[in-house]
Amino acid sequence: MQKPDRYAVFGHPIGHSKSPRIHALFAEQTGHNIHYAAQDVPGIQFDAAVSEFVSSGGKGLNCTVPLKQLAFQRADRRSERAERSRAVNTLTVRDDGMLDGDNTDGIGLIRDLTTHLGIGLRGSSILLLGAGGASRGIIGPLLAECPARLVIANRTPEKAIQLGNEFSRFGPINACSFNELTRHRFDLVINATAASLHNQLPPLPDGLLAPGACCYDLAYANEPTAFLLWGQRQNAARSVDGIGMLVEQAAEAFFIWRGVRPETRPVIELLNAERRCKWQS
Ligand code: ATR
Repeated sequence: MQKPDRYAVFGHPIGHSKSPRIHALFAEQTGHNIHYAAQDVPGIQFDAAVSEFVSSGGKGLNCTVPLKQLAFQRADRRSERAERSRAVNTLTVRDDGMLDGDNTDGIGLIRDLTTHLGIGLRGSSILLLGAGGASRGIIGPLLAECPARLVIANRTPEKAIQLGNEFSRFGPINACSFNELTRHRFDLVINATAASLHNQLPPLPDGLLAPGACCYDLAYANEPTAFLLWGQRQNAARSVDGIGMLVEQAAEAFFIWRGVRPETRPVIELLNAERRCKWQS
């Protein structure tokens, strides 16, 4: 049998990554002969690890925290969505050894929200918590769905204002601090802060949610995050984590590399079934 084409995800830490499992399921489903590994790569070793991967015949890389900006810099060519988010999560090794950089996070989120969760974004009021790299990657795709408004709130308001200014030509966007968040009710609240990773919660006022609202945490875990528990306490119609986005961004990377779009729903269902606590409503 022919040797499998090699792919990997680089990140730090990377121990609990679900990407190798997701890509193995995609490969099985589509009959593609690939091997996909997780490799712990601190930022300082990123360039050397990429060079070694390319020279040993690797075909494609995913890059996760904290490497997406480094991957952006390393790419020889970048897609428009990568340029806009100034971050790259998918590198493709071309035949001449050059690297194409893309960012599939935004499309992954939009597909999860619209296809799997059935959330209509057109005309909706969206609140985005956080103004770091994770937010930067999803603002363009969210505005492309034509919401009535997108508000970015951040602990350091200056960073939210800067992002708001940068993306204002793409749609109706405002920025503020958490304690200024009293004027509107939102249909969708997305947590893109790093707070969940430390089991913390941004200081959110009560009464933010419109009837039927959804709380969506980009982070995922076996237990509900502090933000999702907040959503439940605030009577959100749904509180969901980012496992669907994770599978969807992986499917888009698989499509870039292999030219085939795997079916995502059975993979999401399987990962959810495998989780210790099934708490999504
Ligand atoms: P990433 O690139 O993964 O988004 P980041 O650039 O460090 O990571 O951004 C993390 C985001 O989470 C920032 O918006 C940060 O707020 P500040 O800009 O004020 O630092 C936010 N964040 C981190 N911990 C938080 C906490 N405990 N409460 C609220 N916001 C938090």
